[in-house]
Amino acid sequence: MASTLRELLNQNLKHSEPSVLVAYTVAGTLAAVAAIRLAENGELLERSKLAVFRLGRKLLQPIINKEIDKAASGLTFPSADGEHYFQAIPAEGLSSDVVVQISDRLHETLDKKMDDQLLSGVVYWGTVNHHKAFMKILDTHLWANPLFADYFGATRKMEAEVTTMTLSLFVPLPQTMAASYALGGTESVLLAMLAYRNQALAQGIERPEVVCAATAHPAFDKAEQYFGMRLVKVPTDPVTKKIIVSEVEKAITSRTVAIVGSTPLKGKPHDLL
Ligand SMILES: Cc1ncc(COP(=O)(O)O)c(C=O)c1O
Repeated sequence: MASTLRELLNQNLKHSEPSVLVAYTVAGTLAAVAAIRLAENGELLERSKLAVFRLGRKLLQPIINKEIDKAASGLTFPSADGEHYFQAIPAEGLSSDVVVQISDRLHETLDKKMDDQLLSGVVYWGTVNHHKAFMKILDTHLWANPLFADYFGATRKMEAEVTTMTLSLFVPLPQTMAASYALGGTESVLLAMLAYRNQALAQGIERPEVVCAATAHPAFDKAEQYFGMRLVKVPTDPVTKKIIVSEVEKAITSRTVAIVGSTPLKGKPHDLL
């Protein structure tokens, strides 16, 4: 069989120059390596899906445009009757009192009331006492700049204590620890994902993967885009909404750098562990 194949190849290639044969072999090997890497990373599948999506979108564009126009025609810019609409920086500055009056009036007329029932999942506020204490603390520390810890020792101390309290939740305590503070949930998720991405790159993992529930917060999709990671989404149980642990197990590969879990939060059915 081997000698037949050899004879066949020799017969067919006898008129080809050796340099052309070498060039074809090198190009073929490189193409095969690139294809294997694309397939391994799941990129081939992702690119194919995107190509199908782009084609579908192109075909359906007139219908999509019609739907966008329909939805946009129902949108109105929030404004109360007789309200002045600023379109440029006023030529003459307004006094602080006037600015506060404008802000109060806009809040009165255009904002929904902070009713726990209506804004559940939109704002996370506690009690009236909690609000008052928060405003007092904000008033005292509003201008503190934690970058200058030698000037703002109080902020430094509070930061250190919150860090220690948070780390005490980890059992056993990690041997090396660090904390960074963020302005909100999305930034916290991004910073954590960036740390995992950098650790993965340092370990030679080129396209690190993160396993999470299909219902995980969109902040993880942003991290996927920003940091060149791959989100592997696993389904949740349709009844309990909990992540299906056996599916998580199946999704773990040698490129997995993190598994997302979240604790239950009031008003957030998809955050169940
Ligand atoms: C788990 C989780 N991640 C991220 C976010 C996003 O937070 P933010 O809106 O502060 O960016 C939220 C917000 O509720 C969240 O619950």
